[in-house]
Amino acid sequence: MRVGVDYYPEHWPEERWPEDARLMREAGLTVVRLAEFAWCRMEPAEGQYDFEWLDRAIGVLHAEGIQVVLGTPTATPPAWLHERYPELYPVDQRGCRLGFGTRLQRCLGNEIMRSYSRRITEAMVSHFAGNEAVIGWQTDNEFEANLCYCPDCARRFREWLRRKYGTLEALNAAWGTVFWSQEYSAWSQIPLPWQARCGTSHNPSLWLDYRRFASETTLEFQRDQVEIIRRLAPHQFITHNFMGLHDSMDYFALGADLDFVSWDNYPGGAWHADRDPALAHDVMRGIKQRNFWVMEEQSGIPGWERMGVRPEPGQIRMWAWQAIAHGADAVLFFRWRSCLYGTEQYWHGILNHDGIPRRRYQEVQRFAQEVASIAGALDGSEPRAEVAILNSYEQNWALQIQPQVDGLDWWSQVRRFHGALRRRGITVDLVPISADLGKYRAVLVPSWYLLSPQHAGVLTRYVQEGGTLVLNPRAGVKDELNRCRTEPLPSLLAEVAGVEVDDYTPIHGEDHLVLWSDGRDFTARVWAEFLIPRGAEVIGTWERSMFPGEPALTRNAFGKGICYYLGTLGGPEAYDTLVERIVDETGVTPYDGIPAGVDVQIREKDGSRILFVINQTAEEQYVPLPPVSETLLGPQPEGAIPVPPYEVCIYRISS
Ligand code: GLA
Ligand code: ZN
Repeated sequence: MRVGVDYYPEHWPEERWPEDARLMREAGLTVVRLAEFAWCRMEPAEGQYDFEWLDRAIGVLHAEGIQVVLGTPTATPPAWLHERYPELYPVDQRGCRLGFGTRLQRCLGNEIMRSYSRRITEAMVSHFAGNEAVIGWQTDNEFEANLCYCPDCARRFREWLRRKYGTLEALNAAWGTVFWSQEYSAWSQIPLPWQARCGTSHNPSLWLDYRRFASETTLEFQRDQVEIIRRLAPHQFITHNFMGLHDSMDYFALGADLDFVSWDNYPGGAWHADRDPALAHDVMRGIKQRNFWVMEEQSGIPGWERMGVRPEPGQIRMWAWQAIAHGADAVLFFRWRSCLYGTEQYWHGILNHDGIPRRRYQEVQRFAQEVASIAGALDGSEPRAEVAILNSYEQNWALQIQPQVDGLDWWSQVRRFHGALRRRGITVDLVPISADLGKYRAVLVPSWYLLSPQHAGVLTRYVQEGGTLVLNPRAGVKDELNRCRTEPLPSLLAEVAGVEVDDYTPIHGEDHLVLWSDGRDFTARVWAEFLIPRGAEVIGTWERSMFPGEPALTRNAFGKGICYYLGTLGGPEAYDTLVERIVDETGVTPYDGIPAGVDVQIREKDGSRILFVINQTAEEQYVPLPPVSETLLGPQPEGAIPVPPYEVCIYRISS
């Protein structure tokens, strides 16, 4: 377990470095990330590298026992490089070339950009591979899909399509370009989908291929750096700082080349309305299905031109503990000291501009001391789940390309499942369809909109062999090329679900009710399907709709397992009922009695279970406890414990 900080020695006079390093050590910080935006200082002029200042900064930190993660600086190419090659600037959807003065102003597909990226990476890694303080690397910073519309990307997109489809005849057939007279007779005619507003008016098959291509471009860019680091510094790890629920690129693919995932967690930002990062943590753990780091953890008021709100006393520590509860093995706070210059003057760090340790410093210090004191119990432990939600970036993109109706988007669906499972204290993995699903008692699937025979086979086998599968509406509507399928819906999943969709409609706000067979009801939202059971049992019917009494929810016994098909979305109460059924039928272990706003999570290793109780609210909460064998943090338990606002309690539990 490690606690650390993101530090920018290049922003501060060298005379201050020793004091910063001393204060870091006194706070219990043992790892620092450096240099991810410092290209102009490491290569001030083409080919003239200067790493001496960074050697000195690392030396100062190392003298205080601090280890270092270095970032490759390719998110901010220097002005001299852009001046020489203006073609490095990306082009936006409207065809405008971006200019200098912020970050990310580079096209990752551009060959010149890629060769300069390889050169600075190679120079940096050769220089620091032998530095004993350097333990690992972060590639670039917060990668996104290279959604660029420059002529270079247009050319590469056509090459990509040629590799994928071979001939124009095949491409025309795959995309159905006869629609609106779009048949291509030369590769050069194929556009990037740039004039479309919100991306919805282009051919959906072209759009989806472009999204895949843009994601792969970023992946290839990272791969260049990974290859260099593996070759020159095989003993140092490689990670990247992901962005939680960001979904422009295929995070599973981005993670595949790394040793572990890191991510940047700002639960209280003005730009991040999502104040409970539990889902994002679980998504991040799911990328490699293993523990992760938080490379940037909020440590003060966030903000650029405008500010978010001040974390309440205790909240920074609470969020940091919550990260560990969900599988973080390291938490680095962003940033050490609030910067005096530039865009992020108001993105506050542990220290204010004045550099004097105050309340936030003490809070971080307390957290670091606590982590150190129970690191032995935590090292090697991880959250283990009996239930998974499938995650897929391609499905997500396809729903972005054709939202169909507000609220059908990927994360809204994931949130409904995740929220209901977490309210019962059930640990959840968010895994790709390629994961070993057999180890989960239940697998919940948001609209599996693009359905291949292979995926249908995976899901069908999972049920056949005894799993409990939950399917949402709009499963199996399309094939992998984003064309509508011709089989009755849910097409290749109709057999396992034992159901056929007879008719459907988006719900635009009207009041439709679904009645569970046990008499409870819920208000349906977003989407309504009218089902014909083909072997499945009807467990919910429509009320007060166009088709009163028609099936809305079904449950099918198939092989050794069960497949639920939900013909609608609903509010939280709908999913509470569903989770209750799953708990009863599958024997998944819930944790009951959790008050709203309390996150309960367990990490396990070799038969030992560590329970985290995290009060995210500003009020005291009473939380029931199972038998406790050791108190690691917090009051001695007596059946239930009072947890003060933003407090965290940690116990070793025997069951
Ligand atoms: C991101 C970036 C950091 C910094 C913070 C705050 O997470 O990775 O460099 O910009 O946001 O804005
Ligand atoms: Zn480009």
